[in-house]
This record gives sequence, structure tokens and C-alpha cells, in this order.
Amino acid sequence: MNPSSWTTHQPDGRFRVIATKRLVGEKWLPVLLAAGCRVEVYGGEEPFGEEDLLSAIGNACHGALAQLNEPWTARVLERFAAAGGRVVASYAMGVNNIDLAAASRLNIAVCNTPDVLTEATAELALALVFSAMRRVAEGDRFMREGRFSGWLPHLMLGRQLTGRTLALFGAGRIGQAVARALCGGLGMNVLYFNPHPRPQLEDYVRDVAQLAARYGLPQPWIRRAQDVDELFAEGDVIVLASSYNPDLRHLVDARRLSLCREAAVLVNVSRGPVVDEAALVAHLRAHPDFRAGLDVYEFEPRMAEGLADLPNAVLSPHTGSATLEARTAMAQLVAHNCAGVLLGHPAGKNRPMEAWLGDDPPKAVPALVNAEAIGWPAV
Ligand code: GLV
Ligand code: GLV
Repeated sequence: MNPSSWTTHQPDGRFRVIATKRLVGEKWLPVLLAAGCRVEVYGGEEPFGEEDLLSAIGNACHGALAQLNEPWTARVLERFAAAGGRVVASYAMGVNNIDLAAASRLNIAVCNTPDVLTEATAELALALVFSAMRRVAEGDRFMREGRFSGWLPHLMLGRQLTGRTLALFGAGRIGQAVARALCGGLGMNVLYFNPHPRPQLEDYVRDVAQLAARYGLPQPWIRRAQDVDELFAEGDVIVLASSYNPDLRHLVDARRLSLCREAAVLVNVSRGPVVDEAALVAHLRAHPDFRAGLDVYEFEPRMAEGLADLPNAVLSPHTGSATLEARTAMAQLVAHNCAGVLLGHPAGKNRPMEAWLGDDPPKAVPALVNAEAIGWPAV
């Protein structure tokens, strides 16, 4: 961290808020300034480690606009609490980088940015599915290297998606959006694994099937998988779209990969550690028709040795939510989360996040993850 890279807005504000990165759009900062915050924004791009966070927090800090690649450990949170810290408002949906138990014990509110990134992340998952299946990135490199010497029957053969089976691990908002697109658009069947059944998604697929029948098209089906292995054995496209907790570490290991169809595609938009990346590299090497589309990495930002050399992997740099629309909305939610907690507003329950994006936002905290644990009132 470079101490000269901070910019201070409204120096005489009554709450000190740090933003460890600049956020997207123009609407988030005014929310904090209107709430009476002094906002210090870090202009550099390097990720913050524990020591950087401790030094940024200093002796007085009430709110933090955090990033998903920062270690908000118990040690950092204890310093934050001692400095008067009341809210960590993360610029992300996943809060697995924040020690929630420690935050709750210290009465620190932890907030995230759900909903507004659902479509963006689902769309990137789809981009990885298509890129992997049809070898788009590989073909692009082939062209740039001047290797295209003419149309050939066997050149860059991929596999067809239409009519095949999507195996979805995690049918939350993002997973369901992926399933609707692949089923509604390409008639793919949906096999999903989720702690709860998803009747709405099941109805959607049944409606698609009815519509398909009317047009004489094949009718897709949907089924909730009984166990995780079933997904790997039966999926042509396996999409990992769950939120992360440590129980999911290496859910995709050598054994589960060995269950997969020879030409299946594995896409991960969840968190890197869900996949044993070394085992995936070995599997990709041994099975050239198997493909992977990864947006997240086990040891982010590093990649497992050998992954970068494999033509059957397509790789994106954790850009699931990286659309102007999503990142602008996320920034607004982060600001309302932080300001809302500092002003003592109740947690907003069951309200669409859009409510905070307009000109007349509710006086409530949009997305307070540990509201119950810290006894925060809700409306
Ligand atoms: C991105 O990975 C997020 O959790 O928002
Ligand atoms: C391919 O370009 C075809 O015309 O079949």
C-alpha cells in the first residue's frame, strides 16, 4: 500500500470511512457524503493484505468499503472494532473472505451486494460455457498466430449444447438465471443440486417444455439431484454457482472428475477452492475433449501449475460481475449499506435491491448479512 495514494473527501465528516479501492460510477460517493462521512479512497490497484488493512484502519475508523480479495480476519476485525468500526460493506456478493463469526462477536455489521450482479454473473458463466464448448478463445489465438490456412472438416470441432443436460451445483439466483437461459434458449435439460427444491425453476422448465411441444421442439426436463455425484456423472455442462463455505473446499476432486463424461464442460463462477485445481489440470491433460471455463481460482490471483498451457481451459480474471450496470449498482448498494448502518437505520427485509438505486432510497440497510447475529432491527 502506498500511503500517498489516498484521496480524502469531506475531511470534517463525523464518520471516517475507508474505501480500499475506487468503485465504479458517480453515485456511491455522494450517498456517503450526505450521510456525514469523511471518505478516504485508495487510488492504487494492488490487493490489500492484513497489514495494509490494519494500517488503513488506524486508530479511528467507522466504516470500510471492502473488496472480496481482502483478508478480513479476526485480527483485522478486532483492530477495526477497537477503532470504532461498525460496518464492513463488501463490494461483492460472496463474503467468505470476512470472518463472520468474529464480526458478529464484535458487533460489526457485514454487508454485501446481492441481486444486482445476478444477470452479469450468469452471463459470464454462459460466455464461459459457449467459449469452452466451441473453443472460442482457442480459435482466437489460432487466428492471431496466423495458423488458419483454410477451412477443414475437423478444424476446432466442439460439441453442441442444444438438447444436452446442464448440471447445476447451487441453484441460487445466479444458478437459476444460468438454467433459465440454457433451458429457455437452447432447450437444455436441468439437473440441479441445491439444499432446497426450486419450484419456480421447475415450473419455468415445465412451461418451456409445453411451449417447445407446441412448436414441435424437443421438450427439456428438470430434476433435483439426490447427491452431488449424480451431477458429475450426468452433466454435459456442469456449472458451479453456489456461494462458498469451507465445507465446499475441493468438492470437485479427482474422484468426481473421473465420473464426468469424456466431453463434458466444467464452469466455475463460485469460488476457486471448490475445485481442486491441480486435479483439474491433471484431468484436462488426460482428457483433451473435457473442457473447463474458470472465472475463479483456488489460489487467486495465481493459477495452478500447467493450467495456462492447456488449450482445453478458458480462463477469465474473476470478472463475473464486471458489467458497468452491475458494478455501478453494487457501488450504490455498498454506499447505502455503509451509510445505513452508521446512521442506525434498520435492515431492509425482503425488499428488491432496486429500491436503493433510485432517487428516493428507503431509510434502511439494503443487505446486512449478519443482522440477526448482531441483533440489528429489521423492517
Ligand atoms: C464475486 O465473486 C462476488 O462475490 O461478488
Ligand atoms: C460453413 O460455413 C458451411 O457453409 O457449411
